[in-house]
Amino acid sequence: MPLLSMTGVHKRYGGVRALDGASLSLEAGEVHGLLGPNGSGKSTLNKVLAGTVSPDAATIELDGQPITIGKPRDAAARGIAAVYQQLSLVDSLTVGRNLTLGVEPTRAGFVDNRASAAEIDEVLERLRPGLGPGVTATTEVSSLTPGQQQLVEIAKAVLRRPRILILDEATASLHRDQVQLLFEIIRELTAAGTCVVFVSHRLEEVMTICDRATILRTGRTVATLTIAETSESELVRTMVGDVAQAERRAELARTDDMVLRVRGLTAPGVSDVDLDVHRGEILGLGGLQGQGQSELLLALFGATPIRAGEIELNGRRVANTSVVKATGNGFALVPGDRGSQGLFMQRAIQENLSIVSLRRRLLAALGISMRRERGVAADAVQRLSIKIGGLDDPVTSLSGGNAQKVVIAKWLLNEPAVVLLDDPTKGVDISAKAEIYAIVRELADSGVAVILNSSDDVELAELCDRVIVLYEGRIRTQLVGDEITSDRLVAAALLIGEGDQGTVDETVAAAPDGSDR
Ligand SMILES: Nc1ncnc2c1ncn2[C@@H]1O[C@H](COP(=O)(O)OP(=O)(O)O)[C@@H](O)[C@H]1O
Ligand SMILES: [Mg+2]
Repeated sequence: MPLLSMTGVHKRYGGVRALDGASLSLEAGEVHGLLGPNGSGKSTLNKVLAGTVSPDAATIELDGQPITIGKPRDAAARGIAAVYQQLSLVDSLTVGRNLTLGVEPTRAGFVDNRASAAEIDEVLERLRPGLGPGVTATTEVSSLTPGQQQLVEIAKAVLRRPRILILDEATASLHRDQVQLLFEIIRELTAAGTCVVFVSHRLEEVMTICDRATILRTGRTVATLTIAETSESELVRTMVGDVAQAERRAELARTDDMVLRVRGLTAPGVSDVDLDVHRGEILGLGGLQGQGQSELLLALFGATPIRAGEIELNGRRVANTSVVKATGNGFALVPGDRGSQGLFMQRAIQENLSIVSLRRRLLAALGISMRRERGVAADAVQRLSIKIGGLDDPVTSLSGGNAQKVVIAKWLLNEPAVVLLDDPTKGVDISAKAEIYAIVRELADSGVAVILNSSDDVELAELCDRVIVLYEGRIRTQLVGDEITSDRLVAAALLIGEGDQGTVDETVAAAPDGSDR
């Protein structure tokens, strides 16, 4: 008999089915990973368990007995405690006060199970290696780093001596050493019979600490796997399903059509660049960052003045002298910093999806009815399986991966011939990455010429048919097909094997180890 089982858990938010029949079965003494892409319902399921979200339907059994969890207090009384990435500490109070606040009195009322000063000191001592020497019960929470605050939040949950401890992305703000400490504490807790539910985007953490993992996709449980019998790649495949079979180009019947041909392009930060992109091809831009990759995309997009050179699209010369002209010529740019450039964050999703086609509409002086525009936006949302409540919701309501998909959808509405992607997955979690890869591949397969700048060599190797490596704004070398490996990309970026190792200066050689890569 499992310690706890949840079945048939449903929860809707307006039009969004956050949970659509999810289930979860937990054993005493295990660390149970809860995995799934952004928006798959992990946090909602945890919140149902912790009593902060009431489900539309659910069957929950604890020790084989049906229970209902209507309020956080019910969960607390059953020995369920939760820690989220979002902290719940009161900034203006001391660590000690926050830790006492965290322990709810029992319903019986007479039993005071508030943590004693001695218990608080004990748990703080246990966390000492992660908290550092200065943090005591009298320290104000506002003076702590996010990592220290997260540890205090964990202490608050541990003080309850929970039977089930939920850690929902609780390691996100922790340093490596603090994560190691947390893992030690998790092992002590599970040895004493506690079940830990562990959510993290870092799969190596899941592989290290979890005994089993349940995988959610679109609000449904798709599998429960035993970690010792699986691998990171199997986990990812189970998480993202068929979409992200980053099944590559191999069998792609590519025509020889040249969509984009650039000769001698010289613009700010870019010198004398020649490149060809065929129909359906993904051309990668590699090299150390800041070697002209973004500048090349901006020049192609008409955002910076072209000083020399020519651009041909489908055999015809085009003059991308402004962004409006480039857009009109079928060029689309998905900028790297989606917060500031890609989306107007406060605007509604539909409006964001319509801006480009709107501009084209104005240019063409065509009147398309709002109704049609809505239809087109809804199509794009469906096609990219973007999880939204409604088209009128603000973009800020979307998770990072979904927001990035809106940026991509926005350009697809314009039916571009050339899509320029500037580090589109930077800062996006691994499963949203896989979905974006699938979209990029689909774009290419539909006949669009794609140029992808990426700071991630694995991503270039995974996605691209060809990669040009830039150095100081010029093409240094080109890698094709099987030549595109992360090792060769790093070597090419560093000019190794190009006969002039002697000229690699130290700043350049040191860069790839920088935190930016
Ligand atoms: N309070 C809420 N209001 C509206 N939609 C929500 C709310 N909480 C979650 N959702 C939606 O439910 C889905 C599942 O979200 P969540 O459980 O946070 O997923 P995960 O933790 O796996 O990223 C998402 O589409 C999210 O946008
Ligand atoms: Mg979550």
